[in-house]
This record gives sequence, structure tokens and C-alpha cells, in this order.
Amino acid sequence: MAALDLSPGLFVVDGTLGAGGHSASIVEKLGPSGTLLGIDRDPMMLDHATQELQDAQCRTVFARGTYAELESLLSDNKLSKPDRVLLDLGLSSDQLADESRGFSFQAEGPLDLRFDTSSGRPAWQVIDESSESELTEILQLFGEEPAADEIASALVQRRPVATATELTQLVTAVKSKTSRENLHDATLTFQALRIAVNEELRHVERMLNDVLPAVLGPGGRAVVISFHSLEDRIVKNAFRKTDIWQNQTAKPVTATPAESRLNPRARSAKLRVAVRR
Ligand SMILES: C[S@@+](CC[C@H](N)C(=O)[O-])C[C@H]1O[C@@H](n2cnc3c(N)ncnc32)[C@H](O)[C@@H]1O
Repeated sequence: MAALDLSPGLFVVDGTLGAGGHSASIVEKLGPSGTLLGIDRDPMMLDHATQELQDAQCRTVFARGTYAELESLLSDNKLSKPDRVLLDLGLSSDQLADESRGFSFQAEGPLDLRFDTSSGRPAWQVIDESSESELTEILQLFGEEPAADEIASALVQRRPVATATELTQLVTAVKSKTSRENLHDATLTFQALRIAVNEELRHVERMLNDVLPAVLGPGGRAVVISFHSLEDRIVKNAFRKTDIWQNQTAKPVTATPAESRLNPRARSAKLRVAVRR
């Protein structure tokens, strides 16, 4: 929260509203004259957050969509340039717990993995319609999965793969010899497919390289928390552009051991901050 440098009256965009945890702390600092625009691709998360933030004193506006379309979401809602933009990338624990979306290894529902089920293709369909080499590339690029070749080959032989449970069983069988401690065998495969079906890196790239520089005025501040090395690289390279940004974090801020113990998700989190020139 300190990274956002909040004060009463500011206009803050939470581009990844999730369950509204960060926004609940943000609105406390904005006072009645402040404004929060909360954005999420997932309507279920928007519902959660709207409830969580119903007693906010400041003006709150909620929008379904991608942060990468921030410019049109601002104009649709007649909002001007924000003072602060927060992105907390990736998946929320509520999405992970939703059995009908396939995010968790044991889910019996369809292997969907989309944040917004009204657009794009679900993961089971991507598995069904991709060639073995396309699947290998997804697993290597977005999952950095060492057994990408073997898993892609097994997917092509055994598809259709309808549920998360089926995918978990398939990956566990392939990887039984190469397991890494502290990481479920299927973690990197699920991550890779989720990033692919949601085109997550394309949204991050567009936001960091085009949208944020355009929407933030001088002194406007961007705070980005990422969980994947490819995302972090996009953020790091964007904030290095010294004609656009005053980079506030030469090295990313990472969680302390105590924070990681309390919240295991924080273990791989990297936070970067930059101020628009
Ligand atoms: C890690 S959670 C955010 C948690 C939130 N900070 C909180 O405190 O509850 C990430 C959220 O971002 C959403 N999301 C992912 N990609 C998005 C995008 N391109 N645009 C808007 N929301 C996105 C997901 O649906 C998810 O709800």
C-alpha cells in the first residue's frame, strides 16, 4: 500500500480488482473526495468486490473488462486521467476455489481457465485444436515446463482432456520421474495454459508499453505486482524507459520470509513502481 503513496482526493485505478482486498485498503485512504475505478475481466470477481466495497466513502466505479482497455473504460465512465494505477496480476484465490472453471488441480468441472468465459477459447478446446508443437511452445514459453515435449505428446495422444482432474492425472503420470520439491507436478502446465487462453502477456505488454504512458499524467504512479518471470521482464523493461518513467524500484520488492509464511502466494511476487515524468 505504501508504494501507491495515497492521499485523500486522489483518483485510483485498481486494474485487477479481484475480491477487492487491495481496493478495500485504498478506499480508506481516499476519503469522500476520492475516486476508485475497479476493473476485472471476471464478472464473478466484480460481484465479490462490489459487495466488499459497498461501504466505501469515496466514489466507486466498477467496470468489467481488461485493464488493457483502460483508455476506453475511462472515457465510457467520463473519468479523467488517474493519479495511481495498481495491477496485481494473475489469479485470485476465489477463482482457484471455483470448481466450475478448472483452475484447481482437483476440479471436476470443465477445464476452462478463462477469466472471462464470454470470450476466447476454453483450455480444453485449445488442447483439442492445437498441434503438438503448438502445445509444446505454450508449455515451454508460458510455463517454462522442463517436460513440455513429453506432456504435449501425451496431450495429443490422449485428448480430449475435459477436466482439470484429467489434466492433473495426465501430467502427474508423465512427470513422475522429474518432480521438483514444493511444486505440484501440474503447476507449470496449468499456469501455461491459463496464460495462453487469457493471452495474459499480450494484455500486460499493451498496458505497460502503450496504455500506462498515455493515461498517466506527470507525477502519476504505476504499481505492478507480478508472479511470473515473463510478466516481470515486461514490467522491468517498460519502467527502464527513462524518457517516460522515473523508476522507483531498481530491484523488485519481494516478500519477507514472514509475509511468505502468512501468504504462500507472496513467495513469487515481485513489486515494481514507477512515476510518470
Ligand atoms: C491476483 S487477483 C487480484 C486480487 C486483488 N488485488 C485483491 O486484493 O483481491 C487478479 C485479478 O485480476 C483479474 N484479471 C486478470 N487479468 C486481467 C485483465 N487483463 N484485466 C482485468 N482484470 C484481470 C483476474 O480475474 C483476478 O480477479
